[in-house]
Amino acid sequence: MLELLTGLYRTHADDLAAVIDRQRALLATGSITPQLDDVEAEITYLLLRHHRPSQVVEIGTYYGWSTAWILSALRDNGSGHLSSFDLVDHVRRTVPDDLATGRWTFHPGDLRENLEKVPHDTGYLFVDADHGRRFARWYLEHLFGRITPGTPTSVHDVFHLPRARPFTEGSEVLRRLERTGTPWFTASRPAAPGALRALDAVRAELGITGARGTTRNPMIFFAMP
Ligand SMILES: C[S@@+](CC[C@H](N)C(=O)[O-])C[C@H]1O[C@@H](n2cnc3c(N)ncnc32)[C@H](O)[C@@H]1O
Repeated sequence: MLELLTGLYRTHADDLAAVIDRQRALLATGSITPQLDDVEAEITYLLLRHHRPSQVVEIGTYYGWSTAWILSALRDNGSGHLSSFDLVDHVRRTVPDDLATGRWTFHPGDLRENLEKVPHDTGYLFVDADHGRRFARWYLEHLFGRITPGTPTSVHDVFHLPRARPFTEGSEVLRRLERTGTPWFTASRPAAPGALRALDAVRAELGITGARGTTRNPMIFFAMP
């Protein structure tokens, strides 16, 4: 994965730098409270460029920081549609029209009541919603069960520390991955400092400095078991 990502940084360096500039400008409007950190957002963008999914699903938009990252990748691919789900609809007012038009559907409400709206042909799944164990147990059964094995998937807020906190979403997901023998990747500063250092070295070489300046990157990336 590290080798794939360093290659993707080099391949898409110019596009990525342009997206980072636009994300900075979006942040400067003051309308967004962002959650994703820099490297995990960049990895999301690069994996979407690499896999070129026709259907992407995002669980948890909040003010739309990750939504804008995902839509930027679909715009740069020239194809693909994003279906986003959230209890709150701030994102309707923050995502730029030129990113949203023709490639985005927002489904307001609880995912547990909208599950049938998750496309059967989802080609990339992004999860950043309720970080409790109960919600995780629900989505591991019901949401993951709808997604084709092998689909690129990411889950946020797993590694804020060197290990996932017990009784959280993160520990539930890691248990599932362990049970199914599914490898995962993280660029978490506390959990995988070597991986983050390797990516930071390529970023420095390419002059990529990040949209926010945040470095924790607690997200994990894996292929759906
Ligand atoms: C951490 S925020 C998402 C941050 C966003 N991805 C970003 O990059 O800024 C988590 C979001 O998940 C949403 N959420 C929590 N439980 C949910 C559920 N059951 N169904 C849909 N959305 C949910 C919350 O309303 C919240 O906006």
